[in-house]
Amino acid sequence: STNDIDHLKHEAAARAVEYVQNGMKVGLGSGSTSEAFINLLGARVRGGLDIIGVPTSERTAQLARSLGIALGNLNDLAPLDLDVDGADESDHNLDLIKGGGGALLREKIVAASAKKMIVMIHGPKLVEKMGAFPLPIEVLEFGHAETARRISAVIKSLGYGDVPLVLRKKGDAVYKTDSNNVIYDAAFGPVISETAKLANALSCVPGVVEHGLYIGIATTLIVARPEGIEVIER
Ligand code: A5P
Repeated sequence: STNDIDHLKHEAAARAVEYVQNGMKVGLGSGSTSEAFINLLGARVRGGLDIIGVPTSERTAQLARSLGIALGNLNDLAPLDLDVDGADESDHNLDLIKGGGGALLREKIVAASAKKMIVMIHGPKLVEKMGAFPLPIEVLEFGHAETARRISAVIKSLGYGDVPLVLRKKGDAVYKTDSNNVIYDAAFGPVISETAKLANALSCVPGVVEHGLYIGIATTLIVARPEGIEVIER
């Protein structure tokens, strides 16, 4: 149930917060698991922990601010000591799909700027092959339908066939990211095999701003299951 999943997200967040030490510069992820983490971090800050956070979304910035967590910007603070974020899927190499919440672009910039990226998930998100969760692809609004056609062609050329690309909506309106771009969700199914090859091919399409494949970025995966927590290091 939702309640059980929320509990597992909280368990993963509680383990992640143990990695944060005094004086650290910490990337703050987005999504519900990250929000559990930020709430726990806020409690430690009220208890005297001295850290500075770099938020990966407007929503995360607002939450962190409301909890009294000091925030700074990436230009001044990079490299960060740590980035802590959720994910939509991870494979056993700690390659990820992110962006279900739409924050993949800033999340990736911040994660790439950190010495360590800790990822918090619950059990079913750890998969053999990624893609059951549709891969979010952030596209510049200018010419976005044409960009989507080129993305489809590139995906097909890699042997995945006709993968549906769905323009993300929020109610009746087209969904816009914090950076004012649109998102196409690519419904591969659980078949993504050469992850890095796909990632590189997508990045080469003009108009693609970023995609949700994170290759070789995560260093620590915290997997919460009813029977306990597993920590996988890369
Ligand atoms: C936000 O854009 C995403 O990358 C999230 O990290 C991801 O969707 C995980 O979200 P939950 O923690 O809410 O499952």
